[in-house]
Amino acid sequence: MIFPSLHARSKAQVDPVPSRGRNGTPKISRRQSVAVDAESVGVPVATDGEVPPELGLDRKALTAAGFEGKVGQTLMVPRTHGPLLIAFGIGERALLDASKLRDAAAAFARATKRHERISTWLPETDGVPAATAAQALVEGAILGRYSYHPLKQVKGGEHDLLEVNVVVRPTVTSVTVAREVDQGIERAKITARAVELARDLANAPGMLLSARKMAEIAEVVAADADLGCEIFDGEALAELGCGGTLGVNAGSVEPPRMIKLTYRPKDALGQAIDAVGDVSLVGKGIMYDSGGISLKPNDLVHATMKVDMSGAAAVLAAMSTLTALGCKAAVTGYLMCTDNMPSGSAMKLGDVLTVRGGKTVEVLNTDAEGRLVLADGLVLSTEQTPKPDAIVDIATLTGACQRALGTLTAGLIGNDQPLIEQVKRAAERTDELVWQLPLDRRYRKEIDSEMADLRNVGGDNAGAITAALFLDEFVAAVPWAHIDIAGTAQIDADDSWRSKGATGFGTRLLIDFLTNFTPPQQAGTAS
Ligand code: BES
Ligand code: MN
Ligand code: ZN
Repeated sequence: MIFPSLHARSKAQVDPVPSRGRNGTPKISRRQSVAVDAESVGVPVATDGEVPPELGLDRKALTAAGFEGKVGQTLMVPRTHGPLLIAFGIGERALLDASKLRDAAAAFARATKRHERISTWLPETDGVPAATAAQALVEGAILGRYSYHPLKQVKGGEHDLLEVNVVVRPTVTSVTVAREVDQGIERAKITARAVELARDLANAPGMLLSARKMAEIAEVVAADADLGCEIFDGEALAELGCGGTLGVNAGSVEPPRMIKLTYRPKDALGQAIDAVGDVSLVGKGIMYDSGGISLKPNDLVHATMKVDMSGAAAVLAAMSTLTALGCKAAVTGYLMCTDNMPSGSAMKLGDVLTVRGGKTVEVLNTDAEGRLVLADGLVLSTEQTPKPDAIVDIATLTGACQRALGTLTAGLIGNDQPLIEQVKRAAERTDELVWQLPLDRRYRKEIDSEMADLRNVGGDNAGAITAALFLDEFVAAVPWAHIDIAGTAQIDADDSWRSKGATGFGTRLLIDFLTNFTPPQQAGTAS
């Protein structure tokens, strides 16, 4: 019994998901001038046009210091009196958009990482609405400063951000602009906090974040966010016939959990109102993916497999914002949580699992486990009454997708082009980029099995597509989009709004998608 007590002790010592306890931090507000206690002040500078007077430097001086104003560039301007000034580049004025502003703010926030109270001027943005600009600026600052350090005994000079002030030039502060900036700040607080939650969950070691712990955290998050939350343990999953999830869990001493979250729109008085559409989300929640009996090679990539629950984390994090953002669609989330371990009780190659709904799957690689747990969740989604208008699943599913698209773009595959287009638009607005891959049914025969209805792996090529073709077998022709985040879930160095480690990719995309969701026009109800 050494191990259970070791787990219990270490769990008591650290909270693997500290961002939950930071409600209200950092404090973010709009100001008309720099706060007296600001430690540093960001001044946005474009590559063209005038240098803001606050900097006290002209273009020549900046150029001489090697600062051109490109996005990502920063220049420290120390002064004897007053806070440190930091010029940060925003690129060409005419090309400025929300994504560039977010990245620019992230670079500024990183340049000022020894400071807890920072201010930044909001650049004048002709093409970008003030709310969008303020939101992007604040998201960039918070996400750029994110780091995961609850397990460090000796802190290495990390300073948490306590306060961010957005300074808006009084000349442009009409009442409407001020209100828009406040709205953008408010929204950014909600979205950035959700991303922090998703990152904390994915960065937490498998030892501290079991499926059970994930369910406990989901219950707390759901209660805070006014979501319904139902937890299914191994027995409940067996009763539902979720053989995919149970098969993957078979090698683990940790029991599985399916977490079902529900959001239903309400009016200001808390009364249920008619939803504008109904979306079901399914998240891959492999708490740790060892590969099972098809054990992964012993390299450091293996050590990153604690992020294999990033899809489930993105669903939980995104859904945690829906009440605050007044989402109009009804949303149901299925988080399919278990780890994938080898042991005497693990599933074997050649085993045949029966997934929810009765389809049988021959397991020919236990490392292709994500699709097995997703299959159960997808079938449960299709069984909802009424049927959802759309199903979106999000999963660190295939190394093949990472190979094809790298670490900056996720794969997107589905059976319904209008739905795919909605996902693409959300991706563009949030700079969580996706690239559509074809659901090419000519490869479908690669997942034929002689023993069962399907096998869980295709051939050597097009692995992201054959994985999606497998999922397609379980969506019963409901409009469906699949987001493969194997490449984008983590990054090995700070880059733009991504901070080293888990990126929380998909969280802001899903928030944007859900809050802008438009259901397909139903026949006969067109207005
Ligand atoms: N979790 C992995 C996919 C992955 C790879 C995530 C790299 C993040 C980074 C998934 O479960 C897996 O092992 N997929 C296999 C599928 C194969 C056996 C068909 C893969 O991609 O190798
Ligand atoms: Mn795997
Ligand atoms: Zn996996």
